[in-house]
Amino acid sequence: MSDMTSAPAAKLTLPDAQTVTAVTHWTDSLFSFRVSRPASLRFRSGEFVMIGLMGDNGKPLLRAYSIASPSWDEELEFYSIKVPDGPLTSKLQHIKVGDEIILRPKPVGTLVHDALLPGKRMWFLATGTGLAPFASLMRDPETYEKYEQVIMMHTCRTVAELEYGRRLVESLADDPLIGEMVAGKLLYYPTTTREEFHHMGRVTDNLSSGKVFADLGLPPMDPATDRAMVCGSLAFNVDVKAILEGFGLREGANSEPLEYVVEKAFVGDGV
Ligand code: FAD
Ligand code: A2P
Repeated sequence: MSDMTSAPAAKLTLPDAQTVTAVTHWTDSLFSFRVSRPASLRFRSGEFVMIGLMGDNGKPLLRAYSIASPSWDEELEFYSIKVPDGPLTSKLQHIKVGDEIILRPKPVGTLVHDALLPGKRMWFLATGTGLAPFASLMRDPETYEKYEQVIMMHTCRTVAELEYGRRLVESLADDPLIGEMVAGKLLYYPTTTREEFHHMGRVTDNLSSGKVFADLGLPPMDPATDRAMVCGSLAFNVDVKAILEGFGLREGANSEPLEYVVEKAFVGDGV
């Protein structure tokens, strides 16, 4: 039985509270939302933070989330799964404009430009919500200043699951800040694996077979020119890493920039 007298006093605002400014539901299992940005928060596009809600036990229920908005944006955007019975997302999916979420302002992560050596061509490789860090990096001018070409490969089971990314890429052409930089440089390669679509197949298969290179008119990856950032399930990351290593790319880090970097899009069951 709940004891009202033992509740924390004057619980008017959450610690590290930010206010929700927009929510869009893309499918039954995917949504995105925007929140106010703490004035002091500085981050590098591609990093993640801990966000959440107050749990029923009065303690913060926090999870890692990639910031999907670029570092110059006045607000913060997130792109989220809705896990059935997931401790956080079963509640988070019901947030509305004006609600508050908790945001710990300590950004970290490896999917940052600083963790890679200079190159000519950047490959963003993602499945599912692993698109989120690239939603940030695709909107960052630094990406287009550093690379001659940027390729966004995103694979989902169905066409509807690609929609957030498709709309985002489409909107870049009209973006007053980076529209001109993006034109002709960003090559978008979305694919599905379980529904008919004009491009199909796993990222791994399209890289191994050379199909993506043929379709886009690009040479195979070369460690002298190509850089990659990877974000998906653990199995996806492991399989993509093997392919990148096969092309001669080596895994870098903030402390030792090399040719590719990897981040988990989520921690799977039992991992
Ligand atoms: P949890 O108990 O956290 O997860 C339950 C199970 O659901 C997991 O074991 C896994 O099998 C599955 N699952 C969890 N998250 C996902 C996902 N994103 N896609 C597919 N299956 C999943 N999630 C996002 O939705 N957007 C992000 O930008 C994002 N960024 C992350 C960045 C990092 C570095 C890490 C480690 C995780 C990230 N996650 C992201 C996952 C996120 O932290 C939570 O796991 C997710 O919000 C579900 O929380 P939950 O409490 O409802 O369920
Ligand atoms: P597939 O439909 O062939 O399993 P999920 O929804 O299971 O997280 O998967 C998201 C997308 O990632 C799906 O299109 C799925 O393809 C693909 N995928 C899952 N595991 C891998 C992997 N190990 N390598 C490449 N793609 C993968």
